Amino acid sequence: MAAPVLLTNPLREAMQLERTPDPCTMVIFGATGDLTRRKLMPALYNLALEGLLPHGFSVIGFSRPDHTLASSQDALSAFRERFKTSVKSFSRRPIEPAVWDTFAQNTEWVAGEFTRAEDYQSLRAKLQEVDREHGAGGNRIFYLATPPSFYSEIVRHLGEAGLVTNRATGQGWTRIIIEKPFGRDLATAKALNDEILKVFKEEQVYRIDHYLGKETVQNILVFRFANGIFEPIWNRNFVDHVQITVAESIGIEGRGTYYEEAGALRDMVQSHMLQLLALTAMEPPGAFDAEAVRNEKVKVLQALRPIQNFEVAEFTVRGQYGPGWVAGEYVPGYRQERGVNPNSTTETYVALKVFVDNWRWAGVPIYIRHGKRLPKRVSEIAIQFKNAPHSPFIRAAQLPSEPNLLVMRIQPNDGISLRFAAKMPGTVMGMRAVNMDFTYDEAFDVEAPDAYERLLMDCMIGDSTLFTRKDEVEASWKFITDILDGWCELAKVTEVRFPNYDAGTWGPPAADAFIERDGREWRRP
Ligand code: BG6
Repeated sequence: MAAPVLLTNPLREAMQLERTPDPCTMVIFGATGDLTRRKLMPALYNLALEGLLPHGFSVIGFSRPDHTLASSQDALSAFRERFKTSVKSFSRRPIEPAVWDTFAQNTEWVAGEFTRAEDYQSLRAKLQEVDREHGAGGNRIFYLATPPSFYSEIVRHLGEAGLVTNRATGQGWTRIIIEKPFGRDLATAKALNDEILKVFKEEQVYRIDHYLGKETVQNILVFRFANGIFEPIWNRNFVDHVQITVAESIGIEGRGTYYEEAGALRDMVQSHMLQLLALTAMEPPGAFDAEAVRNEKVKVLQALRPIQNFEVAEFTVRGQYGPGWVAGEYVPGYRQERGVNPNSTTETYVALKVFVDNWRWAGVPIYIRHGKRLPKRVSEIAIQFKNAPHSPFIRAAQLPSEPNLLVMRIQPNDGISLRFAAKMPGTVMGMRAVNMDFTYDEAFDVEAPDAYERLLMDCMIGDSTLFTRKDEVEASWKFITDILDGWCELAKVTEVRFPNYDAGTWGPPAADAFIERDGREWRRP
């Protein structure tokens, strides 16, 4: 029997060595914003702490000037201070003074308006200075952490200021990371892609979806394609249906203005949840590389059966939370949140029944649900299998056995469990469902990096496997835009009666009726 392959330290080190990025500079547009504070700065600091950042790495913050600060030196100090505070508040590990001091020395600041051409010349000068001092060789990552309304303009200015180079010119490489939301429907996503691709080549564009940076989401690929035993049953012959749940107990966290424009379908389903669906349903890629993996994902998104205008009432449910109790705390309804219209019809809950029209999945319903202010935070993909074709235990039917179920838990309590029937001890043939359970915490004695750590690192290396490609984004928006249009049409003839679920419950009663019509029920994880 072959000896098991252990990931020994030398092997791990060799794998790590392959992933050592070139020296580079990261420019963050929107350096004073919430995403930078909560996610980007802590992620960069943790990479520094692990020794994973390349030699010669620097960060330049680019944001509106703060007129209360007298000099550019004051602005830089304020930026470093803000950086430190955000790391203290949001980093998964505490600050180590020696690492922090070196890291802070490599942070710079440029005060600028996103819309002013001269400010991009200041940025250019700063980049050249940083290149000279740190030897970044002209390699740059531009991170757009601004409101989406600035994306096109920043991209255009970067091009006009001559800040976008490619390896071929010998001036180093340039990459751009773009946050979600990438557009608000198919037309705007296409227009944004067109604008970006006038200045950047597709291989320079990294559209980020932080769910793809989560360990457990990547584990869907490993589980499916590094094990031989699941593939034969991963199809319409064995699977009864799939449930993809992303439930959140939080509300909109002060983002009323953004959320009013977005709603649950755009905010979570178009991006994160359709990515989960694509990873679950895709065909095995030939290799784990950017083109092979994304080629397979896009085929799933293109095979989603469109939900036409007249079908939205049958295939979708919308909801909005009213006041209620979550984890022992009384919370306001969505319409009472700051920045929200008191008569808002924006959905904070959505459930869909989706079909992937291809040979593997024909006829298998995939139920998707997401909501804010549900009883708990839980994200999972549950694959429910068909019953055994014949049961020899009819006469012993003490308790009906529950169907086999495979649950991939994304968060919390990350892991995988498989439910099957077992004989209950005793002199009769009684049976009960039991679980075989794998949890990350028990199996691995290491803390997983945050999703942004992994994705920032991948971008520095030039690996876009875990970023979404132009055609993927457009295919997902095509599917979502049909639903949005359908809801608009429906609202013309049927009044939208919101709120329709209390905070702290599992969504509108209509969502239960929706799945029960098919003789199934939602899991209560
Ligand atoms: C963001 C959404 O993309 O993802 C938020 O805009 C949501 O509304 C968040 O709360 C969820 O991310 P996570 O990693 O906490 O599951």
